[in-house]
Amino acid sequence: HAYLPEPWRIKAVEPMSRPAPATLHASLRKAGFNTCLLHSRDVYIDLFTDSGTNAMSAAQWAAMMVGDEAYAGATSFYRFHDTIRGYYGYEHIIPVHQGRAAENIISQCLVWPGSNLPGNMYFPSTRIHQELNGGTFHDAIIDEGHDPSSAHPFKGNFDIGKLRDLIKRLGAATIPYVCVGATVNMAGGQPISMANLAAVRELANEHGIMVVLDAARAIENAWFIKTREEEWRDRSIAEILLAMCDLTDAATMSAKKDSFANIGGWLGVRSAELAEQARSKVLLYEGLHTYGGMAGRDMEAIAQGIEESVQEDSIRARVEQVAYLGNRLIAADVPVVMPIGGHAVYLDAAATLSHVPREEFPAQTLAAAIYERSGVRGVERGAISAGRHPETGANRMPKLELVRFAIPRRVYTRSHMDFVADSIIDVHRSRHRILRGLRFVHEPKHLRFFQARFEPM
Ligand code: F0G
Repeated sequence: HAYLPEPWRIKAVEPMSRPAPATLHASLRKAGFNTCLLHSRDVYIDLFTDSGTNAMSAAQWAAMMVGDEAYAGATSFYRFHDTIRGYYGYEHIIPVHQGRAAENIISQCLVWPGSNLPGNMYFPSTRIHQELNGGTFHDAIIDEGHDPSSAHPFKGNFDIGKLRDLIKRLGAATIPYVCVGATVNMAGGQPISMANLAAVRELANEHGIMVVLDAARAIENAWFIKTREEEWRDRSIAEILLAMCDLTDAATMSAKKDSFANIGGWLGVRSAELAEQARSKVLLYEGLHTYGGMAGRDMEAIAQGIEESVQEDSIRARVEQVAYLGNRLIAADVPVVMPIGGHAVYLDAAATLSHVPREEFPAQTLAAAIYERSGVRGVERGAISAGRHPETGANRMPKLELVRFAIPRRVYTRSHMDFVADSIIDVHRSRHRILRGLRFVHEPKHLRFFQARFEPM
């Protein structure tokens, strides 16, 4: 169907310009061929992440002005709290400075040495907090989730058979909770269906296991449920969101995604006992339990952002802009993860650079080449992001070797997307000029992709 215009107009602009070719060449080398280490002034169109990079609305900026900066019991906390409770439904809302802080706290509360955590594919920060507390992550996503060309509409679904086998093999008593990503970032922004989430809930109930939702992009997931799952077609995004959360016991949230905020997050739980335990951790790591590392104005911006995020025209425009970029690449035969996900387009670097060995990191190589050609910044999501196995120290080699172009919400126009598409298509067409990949010259221990440095082979 037709591509509808964005449901907003531009009130404030931020000038930007395209760096000269010599600047792109020099900046890439200064950054050790790692797009994470580029200075943003040297980037033209920045699709590094959709996290914290969103444009706020006039109403969000206005709300920031009335932020209550009281240390304890700020009015802004209560607006934040009540809005989250209303839309996400958790009984207890604990503020944190961003998503990984919620992951830290819930992992400290619930994960113990020797415990096991099944999930629908891992997310780096989530898995590392589980591992730091002695847990082991187990992937139970459907096989299609690892296959970039599969057009399955819900590639974020759990393989319920796999999950059942894991529980049987490891023992329910060793599993603190099942972690549910919605959408699944590392699979390409792929959704989980309501039916599948309900099946996970049922299985977890049979064994007395908790279910914890990573709600960072749950509203994008709700849009896919509405448009792909017949029974939910006539329900509002807010109703679908609440129904998803209803099937879970707790949620970790990065408000830097769906909620249009530049910083912030929360942990939502139903159990009063767990809430009490989590609040005492917040005091240690974040701040008082009525601000959790955020300013009052941040909590206002999030509360207002949540109200905007569940509007149907808002989420439609968001997901359709991502699809627009994806469809332009598909039309030019660029291999991308199918179907196009909710927040990003993922290039299948292993397919584009099939002549570069996996040990030479084709995705990192491709991300570097696209930046050098156009100033468009994407990020590697493959072997480097997957890191090393904590026990054997061997490089993990995930099936997916991708470059992600994540689209900030309400920031770029359709002509920016056309420039990005043209740039990627150009590099794809001349891919045979890229002869070799990269090797590490510096490799940090944790979340190595952020700070690693490389040189050409
Ligand atoms: N969960 C998911 C699915 C995420 O994508 C992220 C962050 C987090 C948790 C952690 O949240 O950044 O607020 O601490 N993803 C960003 C990204 C970094 O670029 O995809 P955070």
